[in-house]
Amino acid sequence: MASRKNSDIVYRCANCGHAEPKWLGRCPDCGQWNSLRESSKAQAGPDVAGETFPLPIVSIDPGERARIGTGFPEMDRVLGGGLQRGSSILLGGEPGIGKSTLLLQLCARTSAPGRILYISGEESPSQVRSRAERLGALREGIEVFCSGDLGLARAALDSLKPSLVVVDSIQTMRADEAGSVPGTANQVKYCAQELSAWAKARGAAIVMVAHVTKDGMIAGPKAAEHLVDAVLGFEQGEGELRVLRASKNRFGSSEEVGIFRMGEDGLSEVSDPSGLFLVRRDGGMPAGVAIAPVHEGSRVILVEIQALTVPAKAGLTRIYSERIDTARASRVAAVLEKHTGLRFSDQDIYVNVAGGMRLAEPGIDLALACALYSARSGTALPALSALAGEISLAGEVRPVRQMRRRAKAAAALGFKRVVGPMAETEPASAAAAIERGDSEWTGVADVKAALKLLFG
Ligand code: TYD
Ligand code: MG
Repeated sequence: MASRKNSDIVYRCANCGHAEPKWLGRCPDCGQWNSLRESSKAQAGPDVAGETFPLPIVSIDPGERARIGTGFPEMDRVLGGGLQRGSSILLGGEPGIGKSTLLLQLCARTSAPGRILYISGEESPSQVRSRAERLGALREGIEVFCSGDLGLARAALDSLKPSLVVVDSIQTMRADEAGSVPGTANQVKYCAQELSAWAKARGAAIVMVAHVTKDGMIAGPKAAEHLVDAVLGFEQGEGELRVLRASKNRFGSSEEVGIFRMGEDGLSEVSDPSGLFLVRRDGGMPAGVAIAPVHEGSRVILVEIQALTVPAKAGLTRIYSERIDTARASRVAAVLEKHTGLRFSDQDIYVNVAGGMRLAEPGIDLALACALYSARSGTALPALSALAGEISLAGEVRPVRQMRRRAKAAAALGFKRVVGPMAETEPASAAAAIERGDSEWTGVADVKAALKLLFG
């Protein structure tokens, strides 16, 4: 860089990573004084996206060839077709969930060409090696670098030029420029920014581990989420099951989930999870339980929603719901109270999902309503029935996407009755479909009709 042009220079805030074309006394992003340092534009990410001149849209490389397989089809699907070159990914999860295991296995299985650099600030080289041995992940081409020093890590990256980089974890990385304590929001943000910029400039993929506490929030990784291309979460399912999902994905949908099982020799994939989360019971169902076919990304999975209501001890009622948004549970309970006259507003409400799946799609409303109604009334739902539908504030059962596939998946698992929204076909053709016997579910107009049908 003997003759560096002025236009090649940016001023980057040592505190938050914000870049400015001109030097300023105070960072406009984080407000820190005297924190802007001269740095090269290339470091902040080169012009890979056609930023300097326009391109005809049809001539732009779709970038599909730029994908790197992780060796785990489940993970490739969550990412939208593998790791994109030049992209950065944050992998969050509670300590002990299996992030290091997943990434070490990924290093061994990936189709990434050339070298792979595994940077660990948490374990010693021999610990990494013995874990790799245990996982059957000893492979030529994986280089291990145990340090939390960003400067040293960057030097290692520059000399090795890996095509895939794992950083385990971003909270153990530190840069002198960004303050003295590793793990702070500033450090995490700065290191994530620098490492992502390196990957983007070299067309490498980088996956950074972020430890996240139970409520999903810690200052550091949250601050880094907007700096990366994708944010994945690795969550605890029932027992050995682990669920991988994207909460942000620049290169694909954020709806797919990947399901894994943690075993003696690491993680293995569960490729047909449709019935995995169902609770097998002999005989009838207990009160407070309803089954929903949920549409998770490109697959349907049947899940059991459980509810319990008990008279509130205090004047103030509470809703305990970890796997389904509390606001949703509260809204569905309010609709039930309004349209059935059954009181929920004097009850403490507990909601759970068997198997630990976190459910965010609106199609679970009807099953949630039935579980709540069943819990409050003490009447069990008929066995082998599955329910899907969104519920409006007016109590209507609204259409959900892929209703047909949901009904089919339920039928394939032996469910005798599927209740859902009215078919969105012309009334005449709906009648014809029922006559032909090819209507796959019973349509109900509102929550009252659903309850009448199921509870009599
Ligand atoms: P780990 O990948 O270290 O978790 P994280 O990096 O998210 O903190 O996984 C730790 C747990 O996984 C630990 O409790 C042991 C268990 N485990 C297995 O059950 N089987 C295995 O093959 C491995 C490597 C770990
Ligand atoms: Mg770990």
